[in-house]
Amino acid sequence: MQGRGIRYHGYPVALVVAETLEQARHAANCIRVDIDETDVRVAVSVGDSSFDELWTHPELQTPESLDGGLEPDAANGDFESQWQHAVHQVDVCYHTPNQVSAAMEPHATIASYDGDKLTVYCSLQVIGSAVEGLANTLKLDPSKVEVNSPYIGGGFGSKLGIHNDAVLACLASLMLKQPVRVVQTRRNVFSNAPHRGSSVQHIRLGMDAAGRLVAIGHDSVMPAAHGYPFAEATGACARTTYSAAGIRSRHRVLPVNMPVLDSTRAPGDAIGTLAFESAIDEAALVCGIDPLDFRLNNMPDKHPTSGLPFSSHDLAGCLREGAERFGWAQRSKVGPEARKLRGFGLASAVRINMLVKSAAELELDRTGAIVIRTDMTDIGTGSYTILAQIAAAELGIAVEDVTVKLGRSAFPTSSGSGGSFGAGSTGSAVQAACHNLKRELIKLLSEAPLCSSMSKGAIDSAQLSKGRILVDNEDFSLQALLESADLDTLCVKGQVEPGEDHDNYAQSSWGAHFVEVSVDQDTAEVTVERITTVVSAGTILNSKTAASQVKGGVVWGLSYALRESLMLDERYGAFMNRDLAEYHIPVNRDVPDIDCHFRIQPDFRSNPLGSKGIGELGICGAGAAIANAVFDATGVRIRSFPITLDKILEKWEADAV
Ligand code: MOS
Repeated sequence: MQGRGIRYHGYPVALVVAETLEQARHAANCIRVDIDETDVRVAVSVGDSSFDELWTHPELQTPESLDGGLEPDAANGDFESQWQHAVHQVDVCYHTPNQVSAAMEPHATIASYDGDKLTVYCSLQVIGSAVEGLANTLKLDPSKVEVNSPYIGGGFGSKLGIHNDAVLACLASLMLKQPVRVVQTRRNVFSNAPHRGSSVQHIRLGMDAAGRLVAIGHDSVMPAAHGYPFAEATGACARTTYSAAGIRSRHRVLPVNMPVLDSTRAPGDAIGTLAFESAIDEAALVCGIDPLDFRLNNMPDKHPTSGLPFSSHDLAGCLREGAERFGWAQRSKVGPEARKLRGFGLASAVRINMLVKSAAELELDRTGAIVIRTDMTDIGTGSYTILAQIAAAELGIAVEDVTVKLGRSAFPTSSGSGGSFGAGSTGSAVQAACHNLKRELIKLLSEAPLCSSMSKGAIDSAQLSKGRILVDNEDFSLQALLESADLDTLCVKGQVEPGEDHDNYAQSSWGAHFVEVSVDQDTAEVTVERITTVVSAGTILNSKTAASQVKGGVVWGLSYALRESLMLDERYGAFMNRDLAEYHIPVNRDVPDIDCHFRIQPDFRSNPLGSKGIGELGICGAGAAIANAVFDATGVRIRSFPITLDKILEKWEADAV
């Protein structure tokens, strides 16, 4: 549908529209497609060759930039010479497989064109860029495109932007001038929504005699979809977490004929920390140092590659508190069950913190009720709840008096949901709008003959309550105030955008995971027995939704360590396990209670709320903590994720010979 070429297996070549689903299916099955085959590449793998062969592949490319705007290459000092002179060395290659977001709710769109305006209902994380994307693609004036996504279901990166369900529904509606609905089937979601490519990560860690890191090398190779420039910052954690005199992190991609590769659950850091924090465990062991002490001994006092000061740094605090709560020092390999091996592991959690330009609108009526409008979305993270809470707290009113309206392009443009930036960015815009509302009310008060003089701190101290505004210990009826100004409602906007603190400070959220596993001595089946996670992400806006985010992330970490792999038929570039029965993710029975704690340390360099990103932090490092515990239990290090029991059994058998 975009020229004559077919870019990948699962690429849409036609859309059938009918009155009923059955008619449409039948008609689609009647279409015959003849394809001329050409040679394509669908996978990046080292196979039997060495990493050096992959690294010198003639078609390897350096991405222009990485997700999040990071440079593909970054360094501190001279890695090579530090590596050469290191007393202890770890030189390992880690593999992570293709993965997908696999949201329960498939991608779906209803498009409705009335001859003038195109109205689109879609499952989307970010609204503003969707309007732009559709207008550009369909050659329409953006003012004629309305996008609505008040409820989304899961997104996890796969719904950051529009995908072919949206474009196809719009094309059909434009042609037919009637509403058209396109819903991806479960199987199609796996190839028609973006996925994360496999990674090969070559990690070299050099230590001095005291076990201090002197050299950190991280080289990553991942696939990139032809004509779709997206590359994950897989090595970001190697640049951020520990200090070393010589650091070098490089990213390369190999173009492939694969479905779109794009943001998938904590792009970069999720799989970066999975490999890197496992390699750090190996480094501690080589030095004969407890992996907790090893990490604490290598804390940076500034960002290791950029040299910028951290806006706030609490990784050591998280590691210490986690160790205390988990009982790291008291861990014992003697478990209650016979023929079960016990193991313990830990890992650091680091995730980049961002602020994205956002606006929100606030409308106050004469009864004192507030309506918030912004095109922010709620992907199950609790945006509706926390935005209402922020406004209620800022204005001194009850949460019940705040109505939050989200997800419509008619509303002010926000960050949307992604990159763990949604709550802080949009929440700060709402907070700014509240401040502006109070300012406007005080202006009205000073203009009205109701009140004589206002103290300097009036705006900060002003509170709304039950249809009244309280300023300087006096209170006035909002009804009377708005009436005197001849207003039915008072409408204000608030906005936030990144400032100097975002250029002058390195910003991350911090955490630490501690895990106990048991492994069946005969079958190598791994059971995660308990997990303790400690998080430092500034102000916690809502401890319930925040804990839910962290725990969900930890479950992903478990999934990445032990379960998930989107398997590829390398002959055709087709994903083979395209449903939730065969694409293995943990079920309730696989997940123990996750003991989650917050260290509350507001960081006002992050945003005016003092909060930091938390949505993707839980996933970072959790998988490595589990992998490290599996090693501790079994004595075998599996460097190709997921760690399935066949891989452990194979190693046990090889070691026995
Ligand atoms: Mo996220 S993977 O930026 O939705």
